[in-house]
Amino acid sequence: MRTLIKGGTVLSTTGASRADVLVEGETIAAVAAPGLFGTADEVIDATGKYVMPGGIDAHTHMEMPFGGTFSHDTFETGTIAAAWGGTTTIIDFAVQPKGSTLQPTLDKWHEKAGGNCAVDYGFHMILSDVNDTTLKEMQTCIDAGVSSFKMFMAYPGVFYSTDGEILRAMQQATETGATIMMHAENGIAIDQLVAQALAEGKGDPVQHGLTRPPELEGEATSRAIRLAQVTGAPLYIVHLSASQALAAVAEARNTGQNVFAETCPQYLYLSIEDLAKPGFEGAKYVASPPLREKWHQGDLWRGLRTNDLSVVSTDHCPFCFKDQKELGRGDFSKIPNGMPGVEHRMDLLHQGVVAGEISLGRWVEACSTTPARMFGLYPRKGVIAPGSDADIVVYDPAAKQTLSAETHHMNVDYSAYEGFEITGKVETVLSRGRVIVSPSGFSGSAGHGKFLSRDLCQYLN
Ligand code: URP
Ligand code: ZN
Ligand code: ZN
Ligand code: ZN
Repeated sequence: MRTLIKGGTVLSTTGASRADVLVEGETIAAVAAPGLFGTADEVIDATGKYVMPGGIDAHTHMEMPFGGTFSHDTFETGTIAAAWGGTTTIIDFAVQPKGSTLQPTLDKWHEKAGGNCAVDYGFHMILSDVNDTTLKEMQTCIDAGVSSFKMFMAYPGVFYSTDGEILRAMQQATETGATIMMHAENGIAIDQLVAQALAEGKGDPVQHGLTRPPELEGEATSRAIRLAQVTGAPLYIVHLSASQALAAVAEARNTGQNVFAETCPQYLYLSIEDLAKPGFEGAKYVASPPLREKWHQGDLWRGLRTNDLSVVSTDHCPFCFKDQKELGRGDFSKIPNGMPGVEHRMDLLHQGVVAGEISLGRWVEACSTTPARMFGLYPRKGVIAPGSDADIVVYDPAAKQTLSAETHHMNVDYSAYEGFEITGKVETVLSRGRVIVSPSGFSGSAGHGKFLSRDLCQYLN
């Protein structure tokens, strides 16, 4: 089966050029000047459109257990929504429960995802119980294609690790080449602020933001960076939201330390004003770290330009407003943490291109190429080049759309971006050579997506 995508503008990290792309089977066979290829079984006219590598969302939580409930997208619904939005790879988090080990955790996540995904998927491992056994099992995970491990400085009693445990895991990462991903918020201090707010009768969603001040993200980020420096481990800060944390990352990078960070669309576009919406509406925006004051956003865009923020992921973790966010009415600490977004990352970041905040090349880099290199998937994913998987998005930069829960495909009853007017729209999506989204709709299938056994990080300074 040969598919020809012709007449489009092919995007890469270095910019844009007019070219035709020939796909044979599951991979890209060739990229050449317009008109050089003959005919093919299927021809996709991309005139006036971008032809770009499929998005890689390196931070999602499908069916994630949290606070007695589960995030509402299954691997099936979540990956179909991803496909609609031009994301052809997700990396989801397997969650080690305290008292359990890593291999059974991995087995469980394979059971959940296997045969159910519409796009390719990999796993990170959440390390929530560090001990001699689990430290040894890090190598088992790496051998099984899971080469990155998330740790938490937040959520004491649940996912939290002490500095000593973090240090030990980082030592192991240095030895094995694994990547440590850090949720950097000072959870011990935050728990005190939460208890004080509740004791004063302050239970509204906005308190979620007020009890998790940006300074405590900055502090934890700095501490994680120091622990990484002492152990020689590379460090990847997840869902960075605060200017203070960005400053710590930038300072470390300026000294040449292997520190990287991702941010998420919600921190670029939403703010604590959304959390403060009346009538419990703010619960829709409860995620950790919390949405910040608006002035942080300018710094985050700058970080994206300078590569102090290397990746944009969604931290997609949807909980329904009606029956799940509701668990925390009157007590913000019981609102399940997380927001939906896997469908909208490519579109939202394209607004940054339209507004002149980032270049086309940075859009592709932050949403596809760098996550591929960071998480051991390059050059199979993240680039339009001969030999790479034919994960390709044909994107219409001039189309207009309005985001809404009425029209999105995520399995959640609200949109965090309700009414947002977007310039640009995904037109066609190929996953390993198969058209899964086109102007006539979704044509993929749950089960098409394959597990990606990932190599070690290929993106060190
Ligand atoms: O609030 C969030 N971000 N929920 C998902 C879990 C995490 O910490 O990434
Ligand atoms: Zn986190
Ligand atoms: Zn997350
Ligand atoms: Zn529900």
